[in-house]
Amino acid sequence: MKVHVLNGPNLNLLGKREPDVYGLASIEDLESAVRAEATSLGFEISFKQTNSEAELIDWIQQAIDDKAAVVLNPAAFTHYSYALRDACAALTGMGLALIEVHISNPHARDQFRQNSVISAVATGVIAGFGHQSYILALKALASR
Ligand code: DQA
Repeated sequence: MKVHVLNGPNLNLLGKREPDVYGLASIEDLESAVRAEATSLGFEISFKQTNSEAELIDWIQQAIDDKAAVVLNPAAFTHYSYALRDACAALTGMGLALIEVHISNPHARDQFRQNSVISAVATGVIAGFGHQSYILALKALASR
C-alpha cells in the first residue's frame, strides 16, 4: 500500500517551536520514526511538509492520482481551510483512507483549536500522543 504522510504549516519547526506542546524532536526525527514503522509494515511511503495551503491541496490530489492512503497533520489549516477539507472529501469519497493526526490534543487547548473542519471527512482522527500519533495512524491503516 502507498501512504503519503503530509504535514502542514509550521511543522518544519518541530523541536524548536513550543517544545512544551510539540516536544523536542525535529521533523527529521519524526520522518525517521515514520519511515521505520512504514518499512516494518510493508508500506511504500512519502513524507512531506509545506507551509502552503495550495501545495497541501495539490498533494492530496496527487494522493488521489496515486491511489494512496494519507496520514495528514493539517496543522492550523485544520481549523479553517474549507479548500483543504474539500480535497480530503474528494479523496475519502473515492474510497481512499485519510487519517487526521495531531501531535497535541487540540481539544484540550485554545477554543479555536477545538473545531476541525477536516475530521468529518476523514476516515479517523488520532490526536494527543506526540509523534506517536503518526505511528498509531500507520498501524490503523495496516489493520484495515
Ligand atoms: C497541530 C495542532 C494545531 O492546532 C496546530 O495549529 C498545529 C499542530 C498538532 O499537531 O498538534 O500546528 O496540528
